[in-house]
Amino acid sequence: MIYLDHNATTPVDPAVAEKMAWVLREHYGNPSSIYPIGRKVKELMTEAREQVAAALGVDRGEIFFTGSGTESDNFAIFGTLDSHPDKNEFITSAIEHPAVLEAAKALEKRGVKVTYLPVDPYGTVELPALRDALTPRTALVSVMHANNEIGTIQPIDDIVRICRERDVPVHTDAVQTFGKLDLDARKLGVDLLTVSAHKIYGPKGVGALYIRKGTGICPFLRGGRQERGLRAGTENTAGIVGFGEAVRVFQEKGKKERVRVEKLAEALKKGIEEKIPRVKFNGHPERRVKSTINFAFPGLEAEAILLALATKEIYVSTGSACSEESEEVSQVLTAIGLRPEIARSCIRMSLGRDNTEEDVQTVLRELPAIVEKLRRITAFNPQD
Ligand SMILES: Cc1ncc(COP(=O)(O)O)c(C=O)c1O
Repeated sequence: MIYLDHNATTPVDPAVAEKMAWVLREHYGNPSSIYPIGRKVKELMTEAREQVAAALGVDRGEIFFTGSGTESDNFAIFGTLDSHPDKNEFITSAIEHPAVLEAAKALEKRGVKVTYLPVDPYGTVELPALRDALTPRTALVSVMHANNEIGTIQPIDDIVRICRERDVPVHTDAVQTFGKLDLDARKLGVDLLTVSAHKIYGPKGVGALYIRKGTGICPFLRGGRQERGLRAGTENTAGIVGFGEAVRVFQEKGKKERVRVEKLAEALKKGIEEKIPRVKFNGHPERRVKSTINFAFPGLEAEAILLALATKEIYVSTGSACSEESEEVSQVLTAIGLRPEIARSCIRMSLGRDNTEEDVQTVLRELPAIVEKLRRITAFNPQD
């Protein structure tokens, strides 16, 4: 099998699985208990918090564990808006993950004015639109670090600079850049930053939110005093420890492994462009998470390509995993200006640690043949 859907999720690293099993088996104590078996688990969680914090260049007291990247996004958005009852405006981009877009829609229902910043054809947020949208009533700006469908990296440093002038906090969803780019939340200058464990070879159902010290935010879940009273509920201790271990592994593998995966993706991109006529690449050619490649195959339905590849045990995606079951055209591809029929022809391939040169060669053998066959049977019109 050739798995090319690492932006949807990643296989759990064996070291992570082993460490989690050890926690589940031997360290079942409640981290809130003050006797030794509770304290031991608290220690393990602290170590994980330090690992995540160090990878983001922040203090461990600024890391709050959550139940997912989605929860971290919701926590950042609702938590900030709730802490500024005098401000009722929120700015985000048109190409955010549903975890942000659906939160924005819910805010609109509450009467909050939401601005969805447009993007250019590469998927980069238009900064003049941000300048125009900011007002003294803006409570938060949330723009993702890199897009999950096309990989385009946003100019977060510019966004932060513009927002700083108006004293507006900035949140970024860094789920798709954590472990793939050098990420330093402090240098980036954001106030809030979301990460998720299952995109970095860790377990599903664990995320974290970086909250810069001094940022105004209300609790997201109310109850016990866990996560310093901001996110109540007994912690997913094995998941959190697994998250820390996943971070340790990617830090240890270092840049070399990332460069290897990026090179494979570049070879795949180049090969597709050379071997398949009339494909259209989506995303920024340079400012992009290079392991993500997205192509339109005009005249074809992406789903037909996906299913044909699946019969060869090659797994790709037609959009973000969360919208896979809906008939709707991807909001991201629409926002970069693709017509619906072109957007419906797009395939995303996201490479990861388990991919090899042989995988790339296999895809470059199978995909052109599949596209050619489908074009023949769907009476492909080259003018499309
Ligand atoms: C950019 C982005 N944000 C948020 C999420 C949601 O993360 P989780 O699956 O941990 O809820 C994803 C996952 O697809 C994502 O790609």
